[in-house]
Amino acid sequence: DKGTYPFYMLKEIDEQPNVMRKLSQVYLNDDGQPVINAELLDALKAADRLYIVAAGTSYHAGLVGARLFESLANVPTEVHVSSEFAYNQPLLSKKPFFIFLTQSGETADSREVLLNVNEQNFPSLTITNVPNSTLSREATYTLLLHAGPEIAVASTKAYTAQIALQAILAKALGEADDQPAAKDFDVKQQLALVANGMQALVDEKATFDKLAKADLLKTPNAFYIGRGLDYAVSLETALKLKEISYVQAEGFASGELKHGTIALIEKDTPVIGIITQQNTAGLTRSNLQEVEARGAKTITIVTDALAKPDDTIILPTVDERMTALLSVVPGQLLAYYTSLNKGLDVDKPRNLAKSVTVE
Ligand code: M6R
Repeated sequence: DKGTYPFYMLKEIDEQPNVMRKLSQVYLNDDGQPVINAELLDALKAADRLYIVAAGTSYHAGLVGARLFESLANVPTEVHVSSEFAYNQPLLSKKPFFIFLTQSGETADSREVLLNVNEQNFPSLTITNVPNSTLSREATYTLLLHAGPEIAVASTKAYTAQIALQAILAKALGEADDQPAAKDFDVKQQLALVANGMQALVDEKATFDKLAKADLLKTPNAFYIGRGLDYAVSLETALKLKEISYVQAEGFASGELKHGTIALIEKDTPVIGIITQQNTAGLTRSNLQEVEARGAKTITIVTDALAKPDDTIILPTVDERMTALLSVVPGQLLAYYTSLNKGLDVDKPRNLAKSVTVE
């Protein structure tokens, strides 16, 4: 039930700090050590490469997860769109392990891949929000997201839950394999910081409402840019905006803009820059200057530690590998308020269903 919320989406955005705390409770012990099924960990340890397969927002969560598995567990990880992988399977490594990310556990495109994977006898894990869902039953292992029912078509808390759970799993795998990066990574503390940071962001709703009204309500298009993890979040926040507000939005690797897309920048085109990664912060800032010089209206979403006086939205500082959990929240709220202020049905956008059970 929505309680006093006008739409489920806003309620689900607000629930994210608690989802982070819940995942900590379920999957970490008092010492902050992951509690993960030993057989699952052994199967993951035996793999020479992880293949994350998913669609839509879950695919975007996979892009972040891959970076976590590579940096914490030191295992090569690829991310694939289900509908592509299903009919164009790439050459696989000798010992692949498949991770299916799916909020609903019912996505037909992802299931098609799982059926192929099972035929080839490869081990698999489904990370889902729905116990006993089809992909949960058909995979070798399951981990539940514990995000509570997600009703709005636009996925929010499932995305952040998928990232948080992948961080826990990457920590567990890295520890099991004696990886120093995993040992040094205090995932419990990070999730606590993330939860507080999310709370601070969702407490600023009026700011996002105002920004959406000023910069996104009337525009036909908008761009989100970033590098590395910020690029992954750009893809997700652009999807949020287009799916519920019908603004044509694209997420771009900020270095790619000048290779073509910058031709689309006109006076007042909104360009939202996400800056949370120290090694590329300066580069993305130059890319923002390039679009500003062509008339773009820029909004910046920047980690505290990297912030400059003119930045629009400041994110509390967390470990650089975890920033997606915070940088996505402004994008969720901007999309929400754009849709709301347009008078649209935020929870049930046109042409879309909550779970996509056709290929
Ligand atoms: O249930 P799943 O996670 O498998 O769903 C995948 C996509 O259909 C889903 O994430 C979709 O992109 C959302 N509507 C995005 O908000």
